[in-house]
Amino acid sequence: MTELLHLPKIEDRRGNLSFFEDFKQLPFEIRRVYWVYDVPGGETRGGHAYHQLQEVIIALSGSFDVHTEDSSGKKVYSLNRSYMGLYLPPLTWRNLENFSTNAICLVAASSFYNESDYIRDYDSFRTIVYGK
Ligand code: TYD
Repeated sequence: MTELLHLPKIEDRRGNLSFFEDFKQLPFEIRRVYWVYDVPGGETRGGHAYHQLQEVIIALSGSFDVHTEDSSGKKVYSLNRSYMGLYLPPLTWRNLENFSTNAICLVAASSFYNESDYIRDYDSFRTIVYGK
C-alpha cells in the first residue's frame, strides 16, 4: 500500500535537518537516487508503474501532487514538506503533476535503472493489477 512516511526532523536555530536510512525510515535498501527539477509549468512526469521497484518520493523543495493507483484504488498526495516521504510499492501507477516553480522531486529507489521493470502502458498495468 502507498504510505506517507513522516521522516525525522531535527530542528535547530541553524536550520532543520531530515534523513532516512535503509530499513529504518525506509522499508527497502536504496540502490539509486535521482531527482527531477526545472519542470516547466503544466508538465506531468511519471505516467508508469514498476513490476518490482519500490520507491520513496520527497518534495525536497517546493510542491507537487502525486496521483497514484493500485489495486485498492486511486489517491492523490500533495507533497510540500521536505520531511514527508511517499512510499510506493511495486505495481503502483504514478503521475506527478502541478509542480511549483523551483520544485525538486527526490526519489530513493530500491533498484538500479532497468527499463524492463517499467510498465509504461496503462492498459497493461490495469490487466496486471485487476485481471482482464
Ligand atoms: P522516466 O523514468 O521515464 O521519467 P519520469 O517518470 O520522471 O517521467 O525517465 C526519463 C528518461 O530518463 C528515460 O529516458 C530514462 C532515463 N533515466 C535514466 O537513465 N536513469 C534513471 O535513473 C531514470 C529515473 C531515468
